[in-house]
Amino acid sequence: MRGSRKYKHVIETPDPGKWELPGYEETLPISEKSNPITRELDKADPVQLVQLLRDCDAEIFQEEDESPIHYERLYSESTLKRVEEVAKRVQEILKSPDEGLIVLSGCGTSGRLAMLLSNSFNRLLKGLHKTPCYTYIISGGDRSIVTSQEAPEDNPRLGAEELQRVCEGKKQVVYIGISCGLSAPFIAGQLEFCMKNLDKFLPVLVGFNPVNMARNESIEGSHFTFRQVAERMQSLQDGQRAFILNPAVGPEGICGSSRMKGGSATKILLETLFLFAHKAESNVAVTEKCLLEILRTYERAHKVTYSQSKKIAALTKQCATSLQKKGHFYILGWGTLGLMGIMDAAECPPSFQADCGDVRGFVRGGYNSLENKEGDLSSAGPEFAISHDDFVKSVLPSLSETDTVLFIFTLDDDLSEVEKLVTQVKEKTSNVHAISHAIAGQYMPTSTKKIIPNVIGVTWPILFLEYEGAFIQKFQRELSTKWILNTVTSGAHVLKGKVFKNFMVDFKIANSKLFHRAVSVLQRLSGHSQHRCTEALLRAIYGVQDLPDQIKNAAITKHAEEASSKEKVVPTAIVSLLRSCTFQESRARLDASSTVRAAIESSLNVPGRKRGAESTDSGGHS
Ligand code: F6P
Repeated sequence: MRGSRKYKHVIETPDPGKWELPGYEETLPISEKSNPITRELDKADPVQLVQLLRDCDAEIFQEEDESPIHYERLYSESTLKRVEEVAKRVQEILKSPDEGLIVLSGCGTSGRLAMLLSNSFNRLLKGLHKTPCYTYIISGGDRSIVTSQEAPEDNPRLGAEELQRVCEGKKQVVYIGISCGLSAPFIAGQLEFCMKNLDKFLPVLVGFNPVNMARNESIEGSHFTFRQVAERMQSLQDGQRAFILNPAVGPEGICGSSRMKGGSATKILLETLFLFAHKAESNVAVTEKCLLEILRTYERAHKVTYSQSKKIAALTKQCATSLQKKGHFYILGWGTLGLMGIMDAAECPPSFQADCGDVRGFVRGGYNSLENKEGDLSSAGPEFAISHDDFVKSVLPSLSETDTVLFIFTLDDDLSEVEKLVTQVKEKTSNVHAISHAIAGQYMPTSTKKIIPNVIGVTWPILFLEYEGAFIQKFQRELSTKWILNTVTSGAHVLKGKVFKNFMVDFKIANSKLFHRAVSVLQRLSGHSQHRCTEALLRAIYGVQDLPDQIKNAAITKHAEEASSKEKVVPTAIVSLLRSCTFQESRARLDASSTVRAAIESSLNVPGRKRGAESTDSGGHS
């Protein structure tokens, strides 16, 4: 049944999904449910794969439905109203920037987006000769922008200390804590700190689960759970002393991968909020209609992007071929499009146990262009070298035909520079692709067209808007690039056999959230109890068949620390559960199998194994 459609949509959003029905994976929050759309993702060819992920992304724009459980959505009146309320508080800061600050904070992709957005809006202010008043925090510091540092995400005290440090000397702070799953202890610590200092802080929580689905496991070293923090905020919301922006956007196309829809929805929601605040600040009469107009530009971005589905599928296939042959996928971007590549690459190791060299992002100008707080980090190690010059120096000499290189630019960038780099790359590999963004009426010069064999050409309609118009265009290009890259790298890892159905099955357990996710995946695939799955996981982590009490009773952060340097932990546990065998036998079977997916599939088909366990609904935010 299709719900009542209130707004005129740019794209066709799918019918309400089965995941919304009462009883569907009941114990799991939306952000950890498996999306029914992508149930067979692991059997899809590249073209189907892009279509399935496109449909998942379209769910971001779906409206509130009339079904028994109806979740608040992006377009729900209550969401729009709260966006307006927070925007008013942002405006107050914009009026007295010397005394106030807007802090965006997050972990992993959420933290990278915090940096991107705070830099974008500071630039917007500078262009108007106004004082920049946005800043960002990312758990693990600036190193986490380029690489994945998951452990600090578990530390609420670190979060609170960093927030206090950043806000020193300020009188009013709008704090925006992003945790897509309403789950990161680092963010919970900061929200808790804000609530203890409400005279100075307005805490705003951004995520994509209802509050009653926020994570409820105890947080080591603290007396609260994320859910308790969120509930306290909810009670402060009536008096407008705190806000929660948490529309449902549906489960991720790859179960739990919040870098995908969660990240995109964060970008859409917060850019809309800030653009709205800036418009109002410049004395333009703002109404709900303005909000809707901005949101529609993002819907348009979905349509424009996925009109290139065939070419995106071809790139996905090429990327998969390189990764399957132990080659690499290099992404070379200009401006913030380079950062989109770096963001995407940083999530491949934790999501798919990819080597940190498998997918790498580079940006023209390196750290200067990133505008991160800690400046040049390239001396921290080879994976921190992110400029095009670094690529030429350290990657180009060993580049080969097994590698794929993707260039991302707009037609306003220096195309002679693009051409020069493409020419150098083509001497080493013929697998050269590009994403080129143009505005209607702009055409790629023949010289560029001639040397790049495969171009995903994204053409944007002209926006006749005042100053902010240029920013909306930039935001659309970034989101479009994010959608393409998420699809290409996730899709390539699906084709490489790193996903079973739509579950990540070879991810790095580097923090407590990921430990719980692993147990939940084991329960869903094997049908065994939480206790049995936890023990199988511990055997795989520690490499012992008989678990001593010392291991059984250790803190989850200890397990995560131990697991983070190990390989094939989750697959070993899955196969051992499915075959009721030792972790050694399981590991040997995995090593002998062509892919992780194939090893799981064959273990499910072992004669005598009880069928149907893989659809068991269990495990979740306790
Ligand atoms: O723990 C790693 C990770 O899952 C990243 O992949 C993700 O971007 C980050 O955590 C943040 O997640 P959330 O926004 O749900 O707190």
